[in-house]
Amino acid sequence: MALVKIPAEERTLSDRSEVSAFLAGHGIDYERWTPTHELGAEAAADALLAAYAPKIDALKKRGGYVTADVIDVKPDTPNLDMMLAKFSREHWHDEDEVRFIIEGRGLFHIHPASGPAFANEVEAGDLIRVPRGTHHWFDLCVDKRIRAIRLFQDVSGWTPHYTDSGVDKGFEPVCFGPAYVARA
Ligand SMILES: [Fe+2]
Repeated sequence: MALVKIPAEERTLSDRSEVSAFLAGHGIDYERWTPTHELGAEAAADALLAAYAPKIDALKKRGGYVTADVIDVKPDTPNLDMMLAKFSREHWHDEDEVRFIIEGRGLFHIHPASGPAFANEVEAGDLIRVPRGTHHWFDLCVDKRIRAIRLFQDVSGWTPHYTDSGVDKGFEPVCFGPAYVARA
């Protein structure tokens, strides 16, 4: 279940309908997905894509996404710090950033054109769609683990354009969810 934290307003949202409504107000789609059948923890990428195929296909039609893949990041992933550093500075993309979290968790910070930046922590079962052009940055939690399905409109379009605003420096890249706290 995703959480939202708005530091400027000293507010944290954990109620599902409140989180959805808040994100929708910023153009961000948020859904909870369940697989068509049970999957083992080590299910192969193809099996994962098949188990979520109805949801993926519906989203592809809605958003014009043409491909889907599975990204698997672990603490021992080669060049992990370099990879993460690419996305932990405020940036935007020419296409939507669509992620369905299968395992692990992550922390998006979203910086709307009007209004303060906020954190959106996502975990397994969360689908998030950040529209193209939205200023944002992303960090993993302390356990450095995430497995996620990604959808693309055009793979070549998914490169970060940095704002170099420095806004990201004012935010702690620290996850705050109860499940995370319990596991840490
Ligand atoms: Fe991004």
